Amino acid sequence: MSVVDNVKDRLDLAEYIGRHVQLQKSGRNLKGLCPFHTEKTPSFFVFPDNQRWHCFGCGKGGDVFNFAMEFEHLDFRTALEELARQAGVELRPRTPEQVEAANEADRLRELLAEAAAYYHHLLRTAPQAARARDYLRARGFSAEALATFQIGYSLDSWDATRSHLSGKGYTVEEQVKAGMLVQKEGGGTYDRFRDRVMIPIHDRRGRVIAFGARALAPDAMPKYMNSPQTPLFDKSSVLYGYHLASGPIRDADAAVIVEGYMDVIIPYQAGYRNIVAPMGTALTEAHLKQLQRLTRNFILALDPDAAGVHATLRGLEVARETLDREWEPVFDPRGLVGYEGRLKADIRVVTLPDGLDPDELILDDPQKWEALLARAQPVVRFYFQQLLQQENPQEPKGKARIIDAMLPLLNDIADGVEREAYAQEIALRLGLDARMLLDRLRVRERAQAVRQQSAVKRADATPLSADREAYVLTVLMRNPELLQPLDQHLVNADLAPLNKEDFSTTYMLVWEAWLTMGQDPTVEMEDLLPDDLLEQVNAWITAPLPEMTPEQWGRDVERVVLRLRELRLRQIKHRLDSLIGEAQREGDLRGELYAAKIHELSQDLRRIQQALAC
Ligand code: UTP
Ligand code: MN
Repeated sequence: MSVVDNVKDRLDLAEYIGRHVQLQKSGRNLKGLCPFHTEKTPSFFVFPDNQRWHCFGCGKGGDVFNFAMEFEHLDFRTALEELARQAGVELRPRTPEQVEAANEADRLRELLAEAAAYYHHLLRTAPQAARARDYLRARGFSAEALATFQIGYSLDSWDATRSHLSGKGYTVEEQVKAGMLVQKEGGGTYDRFRDRVMIPIHDRRGRVIAFGARALAPDAMPKYMNSPQTPLFDKSSVLYGYHLASGPIRDADAAVIVEGYMDVIIPYQAGYRNIVAPMGTALTEAHLKQLQRLTRNFILALDPDAAGVHATLRGLEVARETLDREWEPVFDPRGLVGYEGRLKADIRVVTLPDGLDPDELILDDPQKWEALLARAQPVVRFYFQQLLQQENPQEPKGKARIIDAMLPLLNDIADGVEREAYAQEIALRLGLDARMLLDRLRVRERAQAVRQQSAVKRADATPLSADREAYVLTVLMRNPELLQPLDQHLVNADLAPLNKEDFSTTYMLVWEAWLTMGQDPTVEMEDLLPDDLLEQVNAWITAPLPEMTPEQWGRDVERVVLRLRELRLRQIKHRLDSLIGEAQREGDLRGELYAAKIHELSQDLRRIQQALAC
């Protein structure tokens, strides 16, 4: 039995849901008010027979995992861990090193939780914290927010934190490792945080992993001091406030990204809770991957100054590179030429009024915040406006540069009508003919599509090839030792080792995640994959496989890889064949390019067929 089934088997769905929803009998089943939408009469049903639930009002439904994920806003992996714990099911055997690393991490987390409790207690009660209390009051913190965010205060002392934590049984070494103490050159240590407002930073499950610490004096340097990089804390991937914001982000189906701690906390008090902040760094791929599990709508509310705009533009670049794309077929009048990636995200930018941070704005008047968000500009317009300031839109060269910069952004827009509307808007502003711009867009699209088609990304994985890919990934993930001999065989046959091009877009993510995990054992699947894929991978890992010897598995997986490649090359060749005829008729130079490519493909195909024959 798979782990998933085992967990389901041991948990009573009605009992589990009954803890969160008041249920009453209705024949063989149970019903109650749906926790996922507002209703006065119950349309939420639990079916004990097949251990499933369904709401006839909002249409949501599923098994115990779906319920836990939806209700507690968990991703699949976290739900699995949590429910497995409740069901008393062991998830997977760990190596002694993993056990040791996990124990150390637990210990450091306990230490940090203790430190947070200590600082919080000081803030609330210590006479020395009076100035910090005044400061926070002046900045508009409510008592409730202080508690929710566990805000604290560190004494103006070189060893108060150390004495406290040592008294709780934590070694100096552990305190250094957790980032609480600084090691002195000549030996000895001192408290890293002194006379500061302490802001605990939490991981996605709400456990303290680091601190941000703000100086009280207006001119103190540095203004904010953060914990250093530790085994628990990676600055470049943590989003401040995520554990509180993830539910609201899902509910609002939008994530607002701000700059600082205060910009998360103060809006939270006012009821704006779908807000997170990076740790004083630019937006990274890791940030966006986390958010992408919750929503596809992003609003960037960053500083209005030049540096802020620069950071925003960089953030947008990262976003365009990172976020999922949808592969859409592109046609020319004669037929399919390939696939074009459209961004599966709506990115908007809020320009804050000069010199005002979100926290100040909201304290001044919460309505202003809402008005501002409502006026958030689509990324295309924001970009265009920046370009109008950088380039001279009167000059032909300036116009050309603006258009060149705008084309990829236009191309990202998923909705065709919207795409054309923006193109027209831009053309109008530059005093150009909109048709010209739209033509450029189409030419670019087509060139791009052909490139895509003969290169990496393919959305045209047929159900058959997708199955094969899943099979290959499943077998390899369960028997990693098969990869090396497989690659060896491929190379011996003059073929490329297994690589990302063997997988279509979504499975490519799984392949890359698996490789990354192989290189860095601290990384987990759940950090790298969106929920739906994670769920799929989990199903693969636990799916029953036939009994075979390692040699049989090796041979089988190799054949499947070869078949996959054969299928793919045939598809590409087929398209190139039709393109080449067309190019030749039109005397287009690309014909030769296609011919060369076809030659290359044919040779590969032959090698694959030879390998399959032996
Ligand atoms: P800001 O300087 O904009 O701070 O830095 P802020 O959030 O407006 O702070 P207040 O309102 O003056 O208290 C934005 C973010 O950059 C990081 C912090 O994460 C901060 O929230 N930062 C800033 C540092 O890490 N160190 C610093 O010295 C300053
Ligand atoms: Mn500020």
